[in-house]
Amino acid sequence: MSNPLPDGSRLTFGTATASYQIEGGPLADGRLPSIWDIFTGVPGKIDDDSDGSVACASYPDPGPDIDLVAGLGVGLYRFSVAWPRVVPEGGTEVNKLGLDYYERLVDGLLERDVTPMATLYHWDLPQTLEDRGGWLVRETAERFADYSLAVHDRLGDRVRLWATLNEPWCSAYLGYASGRHAPGRQVGAQAHRATHHLLLGHGLAAARLREAGADGVGIVLNLTPVIAESEAAAEATDGVDALRNRVWLGPLVDGAYDAGTLRVAPVLADPDLVRPGDLDLVRGSADWLGVNYYTPSRVTDATAAPDPADPAADADLTAFPGLTGFRFAPRHPRTDMDWEVDPDSFTRLLVDTYDRTGLPLVVTENGAAYADATVLPDGTVDDADRIDYLAAHLAAIDSARDAGADVRAWLVWTLMDNFEWSHGYLKKFGLVSVDRADLTRAPKRSYHWLAEVVRRRGR
Ligand code: FCB
Repeated sequence: MSNPLPDGSRLTFGTATASYQIEGGPLADGRLPSIWDIFTGVPGKIDDDSDGSVACASYPDPGPDIDLVAGLGVGLYRFSVAWPRVVPEGGTEVNKLGLDYYERLVDGLLERDVTPMATLYHWDLPQTLEDRGGWLVRETAERFADYSLAVHDRLGDRVRLWATLNEPWCSAYLGYASGRHAPGRQVGAQAHRATHHLLLGHGLAAARLREAGADGVGIVLNLTPVIAESEAAAEATDGVDALRNRVWLGPLVDGAYDAGTLRVAPVLADPDLVRPGDLDLVRGSADWLGVNYYTPSRVTDATAAPDPADPAADADLTAFPGLTGFRFAPRHPRTDMDWEVDPDSFTRLLVDTYDRTGLPLVVTENGAAYADATVLPDGTVDDADRIDYLAAHLAAIDSARDAGADVRAWLVWTLMDNFEWSHGYLKKFGLVSVDRADLTRAPKRSYHWLAEVVRRRGR
């Protein structure tokens, strides 16, 4: 069979979504709660007290989403499969009705000549598995491989691009260290156990998929350039780089956690956790690497006076267990997430990541939240700031390709405004706005801009 990735002769365009952020229908057709259904019910966890029970109501009818994707003219659509729809109890019993939905979605995309890319885990762990220990226990990695194979058994004749995990850094450290994401636990340095089990789950799933004939298996990482802003921050910068980047790339490329990573995460040297053969399984397990990029991480030492009006500096420090004495120092301009806009760092990240891994890269997410306050007389959201962000980051990819990085595709996050995790519906990343009252979709100016870019450059 031909290689399923776009060949890279020119950049392929696409867009991306995730199950819990768009589907709704939490109990439909046999689905059972995920960790996000439970976490969103805990008072104070979500900024607007909302949840994903309605989201964009993409379940059970994926038709409107497919029409919007097709209208962009793009070649790729990345969606995620909800584990609790397919294996609601988390064991091995498969719920065929859940898979029917993804079959309708995939068939609809293929009919419109859009290539589907399926992410198997975009954070919606069946709550039954969390009740048995979640990613802190090895069994979850094994169940993930079983579930992945069940999805492949149904869709593998039509889906050839598979991403195992989305941003395992968030699952491990926002889920089990800072507690800002589901399941909202704060187990400190034990969170590194989740890291290893996520990598193991990826490795086991990749092996099972490959045995079943798959040849386009990747993993999606939220890699970030980590930049030291002061000399005193050098050690912390190395630690942040270890937990954001090297703890994932080391096993994937070298089959090892490096010395600096073990310094901040000594539990990763525990032979009861990291068993013989685990890291060999992970080494070379990805045919391609998904890179999600939004912003760089600038690290400064904690003695630098924080700006009290700047909450971004203290964001997520607890998501770095084992590291102290530092802050983040994002510069301006920033998006509505308070994330610094820095396309040059994106170019550098892509070039460095390609040099480090030698793997074909897909930018599996890139985009920006803005308030969307400007509206044209015909009602279209005039999101000039989002268009500027996207244009600058597309240019950054072009520069990375010119410098030799093998970047195959750019998937804009996201198709439509949706449930943005702990921010609820307050942060808008979409190319399309969604009316919260009646869920009607309306393309923003950025949607038309992207469609025009695709028309001009070819999809
Ligand atoms: C990434 C997530 C995605 C979305 C964007 C803004 O971390 O993968 O679901 O929330 O951030």
